Amino acid sequence: MSSHRIVAIDGPAASGKSSVALALARRLGFSYVNSGAMYRAVTWHVLQHSVDVREPAAVVAKLEQSTIVCELVDNQSRILIDDHDPTSHLRDDNVNRAVSIVSSIPRVRQILVARMRECAKANNVVMEGRDIGSVVFPETPFKFYIDASPEVRVQRRQAEGQRDEIAARDRADSSRAASPLIVAPDAELIDTSALTIDGVVNEIIRRLKQKGLPI
Ligand code: DC
Repeated sequence: MSSHRIVAIDGPAASGKSSVALALARRLGFSYVNSGAMYRAVTWHVLQHSVDVREPAAVVAKLEQSTIVCELVDNQSRILIDDHDPTSHLRDDNVNRAVSIVSSIPRVRQILVARMRECAKANNVVMEGRDIGSVVFPETPFKFYIDASPEVRVQRRQAEGQRDEIAARDRADSSRAASPLIVAPDAELIDTSALTIDGVVNEIIRRLKQKGLPI
C-alpha cells in the first residue's frame, strides 16, 4: 500500500472528471493522473499496428512486446509507448470507438493498473478513471464518484467539438466483466450537472477536509 495520499475520482464519460481532477490536483499541489488516457494510448498504439481490437490475444501480444512507460511531467501523467508520445491522438474518432473494447480485456487492465500504482508510490496523486476507488486503490479513504445528466454530458462533448458515442461507451464500461464502472460503496457522490468546475472542486475540498485530509 502507498504511503502517499490518493484522491480517486471516478465517473462516466463527460461527467467533468478530467477538468475537475486536474483543477483539484493543482489546488492540492498533488500530481494529476488520467487513467483513461492510458487506456486511450494503448488503444491508439494497437490500432496503429493494425491489430484487430476484437482479438484480445492479439491486443495483449502486441502490448506485451511494447515498452509502456508512465511518467509524471510537470505534475501530470504522460504515457510513452515504444518511445512514442500519443497525446495528440488520444481523442481520435477511431480511438473513441475502440477504447471500451480494449479496456475490457482483463490482461490490458492488469498491465495498466500496475503502471497506475507505480505512479502513486512516490507521489500524492489525484487519479481519475472508472475503477480507481473500487479496484486500483480501494484502500484510499478519499474517493469520489462524479456524474451529470446524460443531456449535460452530451452537450459537454458537443461543445468540445467531439464525436463521441458516450451512451454506448457508458453501456460498455458499466457492463463489462472486468472492473466495470460502479459507484464504490464508500465513494462520495457529486452531481456536476448544475455546477461549475470550481464549484465541484470546492465541494470536494470541503468533503476532503471533513475526512481529515490536512489542507
Ligand atoms: O475517461 P475517458 O473517457 O478518457 O476513458 C476512456 C475509456 O477508458 C473509457 O471508455 C473506459 C476506459 N477506462 C477504464 O476502463 N478504466 C479507467 N480507470 C479509465 C478509463
